[in-house]
Amino acid sequence: MAEPSASAVMSTAGFYRRWLGPVLAKDEGVDAEQLSRAALQALGQLSLRRQWPGLSGVLDGVGAELQRRDLRLEQVLFGCRFSNPVGLAAGFDKNGVAAGVWDRFGFGFAEVGTVTWHAQPGNPRPRLFRLADERAALNRMGFNNNGAEGMRRTLERQVLPPRGQRPAVLGINLGKSKVTPLELAPDDYASSLELLAPLADYAVINVSSPNTPGLRDLQDATQLRRLVERLRRLPGCPPLLVKIAPDLEDDAIDGIARLAYEEGLAGVIAVNTSLDRLGLERRVISQTGRTLQEEAGGLSGDPLRTRALEVLRRLRATAGPALPLVGVGGISTPEAAWERIAAGASLVQLYTGWIFEGPDLVPRVLEGLLDQLDRHSFRNIREAVGSGAPWQ
Ligand code: FNR
Repeated sequence: MAEPSASAVMSTAGFYRRWLGPVLAKDEGVDAEQLSRAALQALGQLSLRRQWPGLSGVLDGVGAELQRRDLRLEQVLFGCRFSNPVGLAAGFDKNGVAAGVWDRFGFGFAEVGTVTWHAQPGNPRPRLFRLADERAALNRMGFNNNGAEGMRRTLERQVLPPRGQRPAVLGINLGKSKVTPLELAPDDYASSLELLAPLADYAVINVSSPNTPGLRDLQDATQLRRLVERLRRLPGCPPLLVKIAPDLEDDAIDGIARLAYEEGLAGVIAVNTSLDRLGLERRVISQTGRTLQEEAGGLSGDPLRTRALEVLRRLRATAGPALPLVGVGGISTPEAAWERIAAGASLVQLYTGWIFEGPDLVPRVLEGLLDQLDRHSFRNIREAVGSGAPWQ
């Protein structure tokens, strides 16, 4: 095999492919969670010291390689200016340690969290598994995080630009603490939001993670309405979005779309990880020897693409074009991102695909979107949203 060129080795994408490619190509070997932790630790240090002369140069280099600035990709949604429609999905930067550098990786926005009011350790390990051949992952992390106060300190230490002036929009994704009973969920979410509202460009009510017992019951219209109404009353409440599961019945999706409209929500994020095994029921997790059917946790990555698209289409059909939608789940190519935008997503988010493909997935998606705008003679990305225009 030919050696990669020197410039490829020096680039972020080349480095990633060379050193992590072989690791990510196998289920076993380096533990998936350890890998993410190590990467985040490094990114956290970079974010804290991003003004230091040596490091700012490194970050400028990363930005030059991965950012694609183009006015056609810009949108203003629920009062936030997004420089492009591609964001980092919740769950990678759970404590917000790298909030100051996500723009350098080309993202137009990053969603940190899920954060809960109480700091909590999450479920026992191992709790994150790669399914390399399927380009998928199974996780049952269980909202491991440093708590809302921990996140506030972490974000403040990074001295981010004020809201409205950040190169990447910052979303904060909120969940319920495991120790809080379901009836008291609204107070738990409200405590976190009250503390973090001054730092958030938008906030997400996460009622869809499969790894906190009972959490998904909050998607029920009555409970969700109570929760939204409690949070909306808070002084300085940022734009609120709800993140939903891919496993909802059509009626429930319609109910959430209607509620979003009636309650004036800023948007809906579809979807979280799936409890459905999406055709992979018999797939064995090599670390545990058990099948996916037998393992607890939520499935993400390529197998989720079709269902995530269906849920988005349903939301769009019920809610109409006025409600901003965020498409997430199984986006690992420019085509998948375009498909979601054409189906009605104003924004898309990446997680599992970004891990497998590496950091240059962001510029590849952005270039793919720009190319499609040209091919369809759309003047900007807003014209493409919900257009149904095929990938060509
Ligand atoms: C997640 N996801 C997630 N979502 C969320 O709202 N809060 C969270 O804390 C987490 N945590 C988390 C951890 C891990 C390891 C994974 C793989 C995923 C879900 C994530 O944001 C996204 O909705 C799904 O993963 C689907 O997108 P992809 O991964 O198919 O691009």
